[in-house]
Amino acid sequence: MGLSGYISYAIGIALLTWTAYILGLVIYRLYFHPLAKLPGPKYAAISRWHEYYHDVVRKGQFTFAIQEYHRKYGPIVRIVPDEIHIQDSQFYDTLYTKAGRVDKYDWMANRFNSDQSVFAAPAADIHAIRRKALNPFFSRQRILNLEGVIRSKVDLLVKHIDDYRKTARPFSLSRGFMALAGDVIMQYCFSLSYDHLNSEDFKTTFHEPFMAASISGHLSLQFPIVPKILFALPESWLEKTEPLFGLIFQLQSDMRAQIEALLRGADSDTKQETEKSIPNVFQELIRDPDLPASEKRLRRLQDEAQLVIGAGITTVGWALSVGAFHIINQPNIYTRLRQELEEAIPDPDQEIHWTDLEKLPYLTGCIKEAIRLSYPVASRNPRLAAKPLVYKDWVIPARTPVSMTIVDVNNDEDIFPRHEVFNPERWIDPPKTKDGSSLDRYWVNFQKGSRSCLGVNLAWAELYLTYASVFRKFRFELFETDQSDVELAHDFALPSPKLDSKGVRVRCTERA
Ligand code: HEM
Repeated sequence: MGLSGYISYAIGIALLTWTAYILGLVIYRLYFHPLAKLPGPKYAAISRWHEYYHDVVRKGQFTFAIQEYHRKYGPIVRIVPDEIHIQDSQFYDTLYTKAGRVDKYDWMANRFNSDQSVFAAPAADIHAIRRKALNPFFSRQRILNLEGVIRSKVDLLVKHIDDYRKTARPFSLSRGFMALAGDVIMQYCFSLSYDHLNSEDFKTTFHEPFMAASISGHLSLQFPIVPKILFALPESWLEKTEPLFGLIFQLQSDMRAQIEALLRGADSDTKQETEKSIPNVFQELIRDPDLPASEKRLRRLQDEAQLVIGAGITTVGWALSVGAFHIINQPNIYTRLRQELEEAIPDPDQEIHWTDLEKLPYLTGCIKEAIRLSYPVASRNPRLAAKPLVYKDWVIPARTPVSMTIVDVNNDEDIFPRHEVFNPERWIDPPKTKDGSSLDRYWVNFQKGSRSCLGVNLAWAELYLTYASVFRKFRFELFETDQSDVELAHDFALPSPKLDSKGVRVRCTERA
């Protein structure tokens, strides 16, 4: 046999071995895998290619495909070879618990390319160290101290809305909300303002760049090597393929400069330091003597900063946008909200306070519906329990990734009848489900358990202060905007309406 004969022989053997391996894997996954007996499509038990198809090719559709599986196979389904999905609102508290060790699924943790952040830490013990360090900055008291900063940003938004009113020019309210959320979180985290609220027509916001990163997240999950290769390329090349990344690079380089300065012991070199009395999050985090040095490395802190900033923009901005659409679209809702606000805030220009606004039931109902129907985290959230989990007749082996989806709870007709309807009253007097249990038990939008949202107080404060101010002062009409501009159409972990939506656009018609 000549050389070419040996090569053909070797290739033949390699192909045969590979085929035998694939065949063995398929047989194992179908018949001998610990999850083999669970219901679900056979192809889902064999590989993840259907997930790639639904999420990458069809752009964020796997969440909806999973809903189809549940209609066909029942409340528990094996959705990929090693993961179970459960659609049963009663099980939520069991899966997302603070009791016992709960890890995240490392395969899904790094979708935002910030693998050293609190969000991405799969192991519960590392997560606990990071979370403990961040928690104090987002406590209720700290956010109460931040109220003046939030109010000043809301005032700026109000000023711009008033300018639009004077010229009767339509504008994108959703862009305004994204700019607001971005300016607040940057100010608090770094005492840095990119001043997106002052950009012309709110043209520059972090929403689009983070959305672009989030869209590419589906591909990064399937092929983790892709972001590693991409981000090793020169930034100028990447910006050519996706110009929106330019803003993220600018953010990353500003954060790097600030963190480096803070690590050197210098005060942050800010572009605009407006609230000196309020120390910024990263300044304090770096000075925290309890945080181990390994947690204070530049790259680690950069990941943390990018994650916290990213998590605080689209979630809040989109919830504000979805709720505003429904309030403006339904005059009876707007009238009732306005009445409540006029009674509570007799002078539209008086200073408002989060603690007073929280006592207003109709405003609270509007905010809860805004968050519920904005589905701020649209993807499933897998968890790994240290012990076997029991669901009905099934015993799920310990450390199996098990996920549920917030969208499913928010759309559960037994809990939220006519779930698609924006109905603030469902949260009033005392809210109950049809079986008489408290509706608050099914309030899962900030997640439950040890990995629940860090920014919950900040989010509430922003939503209360913004809605109270904007709807106390102005009347709007929708401009070339309909239901399809706020309906969940794509799940990129962050929620997205139809891809050609221009956002929630309005004309401001009146100022109180
Ligand atoms: C309406 C607003 C918001 C909603 C509904 C929301 C919802 C959530 C949810 C569901 C999670 C858990 C995700 C998972 O299970 O993997 C989460 C985590 C997180 N959120 Fe929020 N969020 C909001 C606003 C914010 C804001 C303003 C911040 C800014 C600080 C923030 C920071 C975070 C962080 C850092 C995590 C990761 C926590 C951890 O892993 O321990 N969120 N959020």
